Amino acid sequence: MSVEITYYGHACFKIVSPQGKKIIIDPWLTHPLAPKEVDLGPYDFILITHGHGDHLGETVKLARTAVTEVIAIHEIQQYLLEKGVPKATGMNFGGTYRINGLSFTMVPALHSSSFPDGGYAGEPCGFVVTLENGFTIYHAGDTGIFGDMELIGELYKPDLALLPIGDHYVMGPKEAAKACQLLKAPKVIPMHYGTFPILTGTVEAFLEELSKYSFKPEVIPLNPGESVIF
Ligand code: NI
Ligand code: MN
Repeated sequence: MSVEITYYGHACFKIVSPQGKKIIIDPWLTHPLAPKEVDLGPYDFILITHGHGDHLGETVKLARTAVTEVIAIHEIQQYLLEKGVPKATGMNFGGTYRINGLSFTMVPALHSSSFPDGGYAGEPCGFVVTLENGFTIYHAGDTGIFGDMELIGELYKPDLALLPIGDHYVMGPKEAAKACQLLKAPKVIPMHYGTFPILTGTVEAFLEELSKYSFKPEVIPLNPGESVIF
């Protein structure tokens, strides 16, 4: 009964639940740092945080059969159904979708969202995912810091937070270190950095910023393709 998390680089994570359910978040598998070997599924669930191409990624390809259920905000669900994805569930902020012992809660993210063709993709989000054994993961999506991260911490008590640190389009190391103080998750995996030169945030800078606080979560940096087991 363990939880396996694999980082595929950028904002993409694969989660294998204690009961063997396979989840992938923001499946962009063709970016410059993407590992050569990636699990192309089939996945049980694909979670999409927003419509930008670096997060929508290869969703349509990965979700071509009804074995796979995509979970996203309403507007992205409608877009994917139109693109021929057979099974997509729409939801919105504050709601929790419970299925097969898993739960997916949609929480806000401070960002923008549009489809690659420029169309409105609803609002960007993060997800709180709770697995069969209660292990809870917060994927922040693309976001700036916002005070209600404290509420996410209080309400859902994530065991693990997946936080962007790359700066420019998302939180940088300074903001991500403060976000840790609001969330109080004991473990953090940094993401959304280094994919392109403009995403300048580094793990070293994040640790340096965290050293200014008394609450220091365990930071687990993963190279694209690496896994960790909890
Ligand atoms: Ni984005
Ligand atoms: Mn992004």
